[in-house]
Order: sequence, then structure tokens, then C-alpha cells
Amino acid sequence: MTYEEAVLVRVSNRKYADRPLREEEISLLEKAIRRLNTESGLHMQLICREPEAFGSLRRSYGMFSGVTNYVAVAGREQDPDLMEKCGYYGEQLVLLATTMGLGTCWTAATYDREKCRCILYDGEMLCCLIAIGPVPEQRGARERLIRSAIHRKSKSLSQLARGMAGAPDWFSAGVAAVQRAPSAMNRQPIQLRYEGGAVTAEIAEAGEYASIDLGIAKYHFEIGAHGGVWTWGSPGSFEKAAEEKSCGAVIWRREPDGGHAYLLAQHGASHWSFPKGHVEGQETELETAAREIREETGLTVSLDGNFRQVVTYYPKPGVIKDVVFFLATPTGGTEHAQEEEIRQLRWYRFADAYPLVTFATDVEVLQAAEDYINAQSGQG
Ligand SMILES: Cc1cc2nc3c(=O)[nH]c(=O)nc-3n(C[C@H](O)[C@H](O)[C@H](O)COP(=O)(O)O)c2cc1C
Repeated sequence: MTYEEAVLVRVSNRKYADRPLREEEISLLEKAIRRLNTESGLHMQLICREPEAFGSLRRSYGMFSGVTNYVAVAGREQDPDLMEKCGYYGEQLVLLATTMGLGTCWTAATYDREKCRCILYDGEMLCCLIAIGPVPEQRGARERLIRSAIHRKSKSLSQLARGMAGAPDWFSAGVAAVQRAPSAMNRQPIQLRYEGGAVTAEIAEAGEYASIDLGIAKYHFEIGAHGGVWTWGSPGSFEKAAEEKSCGAVIWRREPDGGHAYLLAQHGASHWSFPKGHVEGQETELETAAREIREETGLTVSLDGNFRQVVTYYPKPGVIKDVVFFLATPTGGTEHAQEEEIRQLRWYRFADAYPLVTFATDVEVLQAAEDYINAQSGQG
């Protein structure tokens, strides 16, 4: 699931299943927390198997059950943008957890602060918690009732934003993502604006948690608009990132023993990945992938467009890049590495390919390819 999809499917979840987080789930969340804390200066902490903070509720809005894992969102009291950063970075964890199939709920009021097992260093304060965990298979009647009471209708796009008429599509897509953002008491207190090419976001209705809501809204906008950079504060302004796109494929073949192998390319002296390259002119994604594979490997291939994985990253400041990977099997040609770009090409079984692939995002693509091929072969 991409973050764009996570924005669409996320809802606040207050009833959690009776199973602990798995080791791999904890490890993914902790890795993200470390990265985000370094970037932001926040002190977010994942606390697991701790039922007390949500155990004794004294407040009435929102009824939680089964919460045993949460992220304590804390930071330096002196940071003038503390609350907004909590929203902006905390929401990245919410959407990551959503892509992992976990439920989440921001919580500023309905938890017991004294029981929260977070560590606060000198000068730090706890801003709020985010409940995280597996959700029950079927949403219960109680949860549906609470949701219908709390999750009121969203504001319309025209209530949330000014200047929509003359704005580019990415602005409307950003506003639509803000429409789906969580906010304290579902107040959606944010106003976005497009004026003379400039984009701003500000708090339109004051409230105790409005700065957290602003940070969350800014992150949602960035996802919907497909990349860009905000300045902190209200109003904050947005610089849209330039977009680049490459296409390629995970190439695989059947081996005589019935197993399968993947063709990896060593790009330059440094990293192992899959053949890929920039879209040229009016090419479709599949045309680019086929051309790049021909140029980089000498092979003609049959592409499977039902497998389509997109990796998104920022190659340099102000630029966002999508790399679209399909699956491909060789149909002809003579295998040889393109001299200028590829140092060597080699076939590997999954177990050997997995540790060799350099970037974590490419490892995920390889894993998805392996699952897909096994499912197609009836081994999944
Ligand atoms: C800063 C913040 C604080 C929140 N605090 C609580 C809370 O204390 N209790 C609760 O049940 N929900 C809380 N929520 C969840 C909101 O009620 C929820 O996001 C809103 O109703 C919209 O519903 P949705 O998240 O399903 O889209 C909070 C949300 C935010 C962003």
C-alpha cells in the first residue's frame, strides 16, 4: 500500500485485537521513529505491552479498548514549532502503520498521562499519544456507533481551501488529502490557499490542539500534492517538488529444477538493483521499461503489468522521483551489460538476491515479486 492509498483508507481505530505487535512490525516502526526523531529533534517512543495508559478512562469522548501499544509523542518544550512537528512527524508513523495494516488513533485527551510509560529528559514534554495495533477482523457494533458519533462529515474542499478555481491539479489533490486528515474533535481547523502561484496553510480556528492539526494537515497535503517542502508556522508556505519518473522491471526466469532466479544489475561500482531508466517523450510506463531493459541487458522481455510496484524518494532537495517496477521474463536477445551504466548482470536465487539488493525500497519490491511469483505458482 502506498502512502496515497493509506490517506484514503485510514480511520481512527479505538478497538484493538488481542494480539501483540509482531517483531517485524516493531522493528519497522522503531526504525522509522529513529529516522524521524533524528530529522525533527522530537522524542517519539514506541511503548509496547502497556495496557495502563488507556486502562482507566476518566474522559468521555472516544472509547478505547484493547490498547496495549502506543507511540508517545514528546519533544523539547522550548521548540517554538513543537506541536506542529508532533503532528507532521507523528502522522508519518500513522500512515506507515496504516500501510502495514495496523489501526491507529491520535489521542490528546482520553488517556491517563500518569500511567504513560514514556521517558522524558530535562526540558521535554509529552504532547499526545498515538494508539497503534492490530485491529479485530470485524469492526464491532460499538466501534461503528462511536465512529458515527465522532467521525462527523468532513468539510467540503471549498471550505478547506481558497483559490481552487485557478490552481493546478496537484493543489486540489493536496486539499483532498487534507480533507481525510485526522484532527482533534474532527474540527479540521485548517485553511489552505492558492494565490498567484503561492500555497499557504494556516490555522483558521484557534484550539488547544490546532497546531498538531496543522502539522498533520501539512503532511497530508504533501502526500496528496506528490512532494514538496513546507515552512513551519501559521501561515506556512509550500514549495512543490519537481517530479521525475523512471520505469523498469524485476526480471526473473524459471530454473531447470522448477525454482526461479532473478536478474540483478550492479549500477556503477556501488549498488545492486533492477534495470530501469527515465521515461522519454510520450512513452507509456511499459514502453519505457521494455526499452530500458533492452538497452541495459540486451534482452527482450514479456512484461507483466499486473505486478506494478512504485518506489518514491527524494533524489535531491526539491525533486521527488517515482520508480515504477513491473515483472518481466526474457523472451529473446543476448544478455550483455550496457557498458556506460551497468557494471555486471547476474542471476541469483531469492535467498542470495535478497541480501545483495542495496536499497530497502528495492528489497521490498523484490519481496513483493517473490510473493507474487509464488502465489502464481500455487506456492503462496
Ligand atoms: C491531535 C488529535 C487529538 C485527538 N484526541 C483524541 C482523543 O483524545 N480521543 C479520541 O477518541 N480521539 C481523538 N482524536 C481522533 C479524532 O477524533 C479523529 O481524528 C476525528 O474524529 C476524525 O476521524 P478519523 O480520524 O477517523 O478521520 C484526536 C485526533 C487528533 C488529530
